[in-house]
Amino acid sequence: MKPRLKHSLVFLAYFALYSIPNMAQNKTITQKVDSLLNLMTLEEKVGQMNQYNGFWDVTGPVPEEGNAAIKYEHLKKGWVGSMLNVTGVENVRKLQKLVVEESRLGIPLIFGFDVIHGYKTVAPIPLAEAASWDLDAIKRSAQIAADEAAAVGINWTFAPMVDISRDARWGRVMEGAGEDTYLGMQIAKARVKGFQGDDLTSNNTIAACAKHFAGYGFAEAGRDYNTADFGTSTLFNTVLPPFKAAVDADVKTVMNGFNVLNGVPVTGDSYLQRDILKEKWGFDGFVISDWASIGELVPHGFAENLAQAAEIAANAGSDMDMEATAYVTHLADKVKAGKVSESHIDDAVRRILTVKYELGLFDDPYRYCNAQREKERLNHKEHHAGVLDMAKKSIVLLKNEGNLLPIKKNQPKIAVIGELANDNNSPLGSWRLGSDNNTAVSVLEGLKKFSSNITYARGPKVFDPEASFLNHVKINESDETGMDEAVALAKESDVVLIVLGEHGFQSGEGRSRTKLGLPGLQLKLLQEVYKVNKNAVLVLMNGRPLTLEWEAENIPAILETWQLGTQTGNAIAQVVFGDYNPSGKLPMTFPRSVGQVPIYYNHNSTGRPNPQPNVFWSHYSDEKNEPLFPFGYGLSYTTFAYSDLKIDTSDKNNIKVEVTVTNMGEREGEEVVQLYIHDKVASIVRPVKELKGFQKINLAPKASQKVQFNLTDKELGFYNNAYEFVVESGTFDIMVGTNSQLGLQGSFTLN
Ligand code: BGC
Repeated sequence: MKPRLKHSLVFLAYFALYSIPNMAQNKTITQKVDSLLNLMTLEEKVGQMNQYNGFWDVTGPVPEEGNAAIKYEHLKKGWVGSMLNVTGVENVRKLQKLVVEESRLGIPLIFGFDVIHGYKTVAPIPLAEAASWDLDAIKRSAQIAADEAAAVGINWTFAPMVDISRDARWGRVMEGAGEDTYLGMQIAKARVKGFQGDDLTSNNTIAACAKHFAGYGFAEAGRDYNTADFGTSTLFNTVLPPFKAAVDADVKTVMNGFNVLNGVPVTGDSYLQRDILKEKWGFDGFVISDWASIGELVPHGFAENLAQAAEIAANAGSDMDMEATAYVTHLADKVKAGKVSESHIDDAVRRILTVKYELGLFDDPYRYCNAQREKERLNHKEHHAGVLDMAKKSIVLLKNEGNLLPIKKNQPKIAVIGELANDNNSPLGSWRLGSDNNTAVSVLEGLKKFSSNITYARGPKVFDPEASFLNHVKINESDETGMDEAVALAKESDVVLIVLGEHGFQSGEGRSRTKLGLPGLQLKLLQEVYKVNKNAVLVLMNGRPLTLEWEAENIPAILETWQLGTQTGNAIAQVVFGDYNPSGKLPMTFPRSVGQVPIYYNHNSTGRPNPQPNVFWSHYSDEKNEPLFPFGYGLSYTTFAYSDLKIDTSDKNNIKVEVTVTNMGEREGEEVVQLYIHDKVASIVRPVKELKGFQKINLAPKASQKVQFNLTDKELGFYNNAYEFVVESGTFDIMVGTNSQLGLQGSFTLN
């Protein structure tokens, strides 16, 4: 890169920046960062801590007035360290050039974007991917996303979201790995490794971001942005471990969040960000605020004004300000007034510059700006193959009475019903900002590739076609036009595939719901169809667990397909017609009714767990305690038998648990073998069950396989309320099985 030399000071800076830090190959990144930091003014340092959203069409005229003009000037002054939502090689190159060539030190920008589950080629929503329990496939999916994102100039994704959530009302459960900490940890690592690869400077990897630190998934009553309030044991044992796993996998950035946790907005929480993340865990990347969350300290009532918000957030260890303009406007003054120490600023800037060096942006700020690559990598056929594989693995078979599924390809009369069956947009989910609308293969399109005996009827309209990322989806609750036609078609068909669920824009950020049933007239449609044809297969598409009690009771076959992205129809068709045997397992409990929420498998026992003849035990008077479908649940077109549970305690530091799994059926299948433990008596009450291992195995018909797990301190210990990891002696119950409720049981004692 060639910065324009404006005067001798700049020349000096140029010499120092490009000659000293870069040409001396033997200098470490730390030394290069220090040399650069020495050259920076306070304002330039604060500038690195400032991130702006894309504010003007870079290919259009330069903004001359208003906020855009101010921001443009900031770019030229080097008062912006990062941009978000600027994509495309041409745009990125132009902005980068402006900063590199016009600002005094020419420090390159880092470009961030929400690459949540794919860029142009869209993978299943993260909750769906989690249902695969297939870490290699999940890693591959993140690699594909990174490859495409890097090809359009992006250096950094705001993913993975590693928030644990137990509340299906919260719309963002679609973006995480579900309710379980252990599964969440493994998936966090897989995603970070997938995005970042082994070499961050390569042109197909990007920096990852573990978010939202911490507790955002516990928004009270599932209402997005709401307060979270839970105790230290939940914080240490449930909420933090997936973040720690991401840090151990070398995640380069962490995003804080919008929520208050135990009275402190996490963006201003120095215990979380400084004491735990940076000190205790040794995280050496940087912390980005959530969107304007520094400014939100004011409405929270935690800061009087934006200036004080900047002071609190910087002191608490929030290194970069996303779009609140708090830092760029006030932080230098706060330092001059002695309210924020310059060492805090230096620490933040060091972290940010380090990541930029690690991405190779100082060697070549345009390294992600290759127009040829942009053309070649987007929608690459390998990417489509990868997300198809991921999509198939994400599907969960919830019910299959009488082996209604798979359907024979030569079945004469197949009815396909439901608006979602014919939708190319909704299956892309809500976080698909880089993709193009209507680019998913619809279920109908997918099915028609397998059979020419398909007739389609929409049924009543459900969703507003104008649904978008910014708005709520309007639902038709009254107009039944289309009902009769669909029911008539069902009546004359051999089998009915009825595709129902939520629109892709009904889950995601800002999309909390209090009702978790099928929206609009969909349940009525299902009931009418079922009255005339009992061979009904319900294909569900949704971004969260739903309450499906009538459906589960009556409909013989149910497939949970979530929102599967670009390859939706192809994946579902392969499962429906039996070319792929489903193997997904639920990463979140499905409640019977909203009143059970939050409902999760790894709860503590109450003091009154057992049914009594009177009312004084822990239960509801109008609902069962048990969920509709438990965590870890999912069927296959074959069945698996578990036998010969063996527990070998000869090595106390590595207890071996072994089980034999046999494929009892006539077709090959995959099974996720799950190991749960229960620490029976401990100094902190332990959950009734905790997942501590799983393996996905493939078995030929009638074949058996021994599956072995190792239990070490890591699995057997827990955090006490002083945040110390302890392993306590005593008895542990073990369960190895096919879901969190069903398995072989044993126990052992640690002395
Ligand atoms: C979300 C973040 C996201 C950011 C940038 C916020 O509203 O909470 O998860 O990364 O916007 O788009």
